[in-house]
Amino acid sequence: MLTKGALFAAAAGLYADAANAATSSSTEVPQYLQTSPELFAAIEPSIDPSDAGPTKTGDAPFLAQTNPAPFTGVSYIPVQPIETQVPIVGNKENANIFQLMGQLSHYFPNPDGFGVDEYALPPGTNISQLHMLHRHGSRYPESYSPTLGEKIANKTGTFNATGDLAFLNDYEYKLGYEMLVPLGHQELFDSGVLHYYQYGHLYPNNGSKIVVRSTTEDRMTQSAEYFLAGFFGLGWTQNATLELIIEEDGYNNSLAGYDNCPNSNLEVSYGGTNATEQWASIYLANATERFRSQISGWDWTVDDTYDAQTLCAYETVGLGFSQFCGLFTYEEWVGYEYSIDINFAGNNAFQSPTGRAVGIPWVVELLARLQHHLIDTPTAQVNVTLDNNTATFPLDQALNLDFSHDTDIMSFLTAFGFKQFAPFMPATHYTANRSLIVSHLEPFAARLDIEIIDAPHPVLPKRPSPGSPASSFYNTTGGPTKYIHFNVNQRTLPLHRSFPECEYRDDGWCELGTWFETQATKLEEAQYEWSCFGDYPATPYGVVWNGVPVSNSTKA
Ligand SMILES: *[C@@H]1O[C@H](CO)[C@@H](O)[C@H](O)[C@H]1NC(C)=O
Ligand SMILES: *[C@@H]1O[C@H](CO)[C@@H](O)[C@H](O)[C@H]1NC(C)=O
Ligand SMILES: *[C@@H]1O[C@H](CO)[C@@H](O)[C@H](O)[C@H]1NC(C)=O
Ligand SMILES: *[C@@H]1O[C@H](CO)[C@@H](O)[C@H](O)[C@H]1NC(C)=O
Ligand SMILES: *[C@@H]1O[C@H](CO)[C@@H](O)[C@H](O)[C@H]1NC(C)=O
Ligand SMILES: *[C@@H]1O[C@H](CO)[C@@H](O)[C@H](O)[C@H]1NC(C)=O
Ligand SMILES: *[C@@H]1O[C@H](CO)[C@@H](O)[C@H](O)[C@H]1NC(C)=O
Ligand SMILES: *[C@@H]1O[C@H](CO)[C@@H](O)[C@H](O)[C@H]1NC(C)=O
Ligand SMILES: *[C@@H]1O[C@H](CO)[C@@H](O)[C@H](O)[C@H]1NC(C)=O
Ligand SMILES: *[C@@H]1O[C@H](CO)[C@@H](O)[C@H](O)[C@H]1NC(C)=O
Ligand SMILES: *[C@@H]1O[C@H](CO)[C@@H](O)[C@H](O)[C@H]1NC(C)=O
Ligand SMILES: *[C@@H]1O[C@H](CO)[C@@H](O)[C@H](O)[C@H]1NC(C)=O
Repeated sequence: MLTKGALFAAAAGLYADAANAATSSSTEVPQYLQTSPELFAAIEPSIDPSDAGPTKTGDAPFLAQTNPAPFTGVSYIPVQPIETQVPIVGNKENANIFQLMGQLSHYFPNPDGFGVDEYALPPGTNISQLHMLHRHGSRYPESYSPTLGEKIANKTGTFNATGDLAFLNDYEYKLGYEMLVPLGHQELFDSGVLHYYQYGHLYPNNGSKIVVRSTTEDRMTQSAEYFLAGFFGLGWTQNATLELIIEEDGYNNSLAGYDNCPNSNLEVSYGGTNATEQWASIYLANATERFRSQISGWDWTVDDTYDAQTLCAYETVGLGFSQFCGLFTYEEWVGYEYSIDINFAGNNAFQSPTGRAVGIPWVVELLARLQHHLIDTPTAQVNVTLDNNTATFPLDQALNLDFSHDTDIMSFLTAFGFKQFAPFMPATHYTANRSLIVSHLEPFAARLDIEIIDAPHPVLPKRPSPGSPASSFYNTTGGPTKYIHFNVNQRTLPLHRSFPECEYRDDGWCELGTWFETQATKLEEAQYEWSCFGDYPATPYGVVWNGVPVSNSTKA
């Protein structure tokens, strides 16, 4: 970890960041506005603080050469831009295994919704604010978890694989680590374009720049930059100032809430990891037997089988195609998604003792922005230096763009209290009827778009049929009314489903004042100090049920 001394020594020799500080005549760019070189990407002590952090470029893809398409029995579809037509045993019609990969699925809009339909705004109503929270795009594996690919490359020559696994005999591992892959650039650029079409009007095109927030990690910084290029064009530095919050253990970072929540990085918060292991030994038993019969000289385990599914996801986004994907049946991919759903539940959401605490700082920030005040006292792990200043925590922006990580966004939803995602999912068997599906919530480039909606009158909870006169949308005896509307991956997250105080509404909105009431106790409920720093025992997956340590929960 960087010491404070090293941190400021590094910051002292600041280069002007020509791009980001385009309007500044000074070379004295504050650390949090310096986007290049990236100072705090390092998450390993061995990394030089002036380095761009622990990133590694992979081999250049060569899909034109490696792509086995067209596949037998599948009509040819050109790559777009990766190859996902590989035939899968038992595949359901229109099903797509690449949408069953949890947080490793490349971006797709939630296909099922979260329980309500979508509605157009009633005539006369308008959107006055957007508060967006965006995950980074598709990336290489993380540096601290070696992949099966590295293991295979290590063992080459010591085993003999046949049949479907024969390709392992001369397999080469080509992935880098941590950084975005080209598909990740595209996802963020596309999302910037999408958000411009959706919300471009909220940008005050009067010469003022908006402040956009991300973190110092390489893929986080780049995700924000690609998004802004999509939203504004390549001249985005004229329109936005990119503020980077230090992403490093021990720092306060509302966009990386595990940084100052030690318990979230310890065994007590790994109930989900245990659950995944338990479930994998069940749903991958067949596959493991299949693979063991096709390889000698290697004591192939369930862990290896699981890692092969993960490698399919990574190679697909890194190289455009992976031979590992076709080794599994459709049912096994359904099992893989479930393995990630229980993992997030147990490590980052309602079955985790730090589920709420990791997410609470961003919730506090959103409430402060919506209620128009700075944060001037230490609160959870908000960085007060940044949030007690309108230059770094603006209160009057209609367009607010923040960037974060998958597990964090899961924790934000937990800290808000989206109990829709709380029901326990057992590790012993598959639960088809469930709400927490990670690929629908946190695929690469996931986005939470929170809209503030201004209506001239209360909007009736039951929507009239399309084309009805304007008056039939409203209770015209009431005055102007504000609503909040949550969208995750382009579908409404209905507020009444998790917050009984919010009336049942077809459109899933909640009256803003009522929603504030639902949030008034959330900081306290998160128990940040005890949850993050308390000395409580690890409990098996399923014992924690409310996103806080069980000793403090009263069973419902
Ligand atoms: C590969 O082999 C090296 C040297 O034996 C070892 O240090 C490393 O952990 C191995 N990596 C994997 C992924 O097995
Ligand atoms: C690998 O196994 C196959 C099938 O058992 C066998 O035909 C082949 O000779 C083996 N190759 C090596 C290099 O051992
Ligand atoms: C531009 O508009 C925004 C939002 O209305 C306002 O906060 C800002 O002060 C304006 N800037 C200028 C230079 O007028
Ligand atoms: C970005 O800012 C420039 C300079 O103020 C302006 O000309 C341009 O229209 C802005 N871009 C968008 C998309 O509003
Ligand atoms: C808060 O942010 C400032 C500006 O980036 C930084 O210098 C400081 O170290 C941060 N403090 C904590 C506790 O993270
Ligand atoms: C495992 O094999 C059995 C027997 O062939 C089959 O009934 C079951 O559905 C398979 N399980 C999976 C996860 O593929
Ligand atoms: C917040 O800012 C105000 C005004 O600059 C200052 O008086 C106060 O000490 C700051 N609070 C903290 C905790 O930094
Ligand atoms: C960082 O968060 C801790 C925990 O809430 C708090 O005690 C500390 O004052 C914060 N530091 C800054 C700079 O906000
Ligand atoms: C948005 O709607 C509110 C309530 O009807 C109205 O007061 C306001 O002027 C509208 N704003 C814009 C920019 O249309
Ligand atoms: C319309 O609003 C009035 C006053 O706010 C309220 O008394 C009445 O019950 C509402 N009517 C409907 C149909 O919601
Ligand atoms: C996970 O399993 C390990 C090994 O069995 C155990 O030590 C640990 O307490 C478990 N963690 C949780 C949170 O259940
Ligand atoms: C939670 O329980 C522990 C142990 O009983 C206690 O020390 C801690 O203060 C409690 N936290 C809250 C927020 O009640």
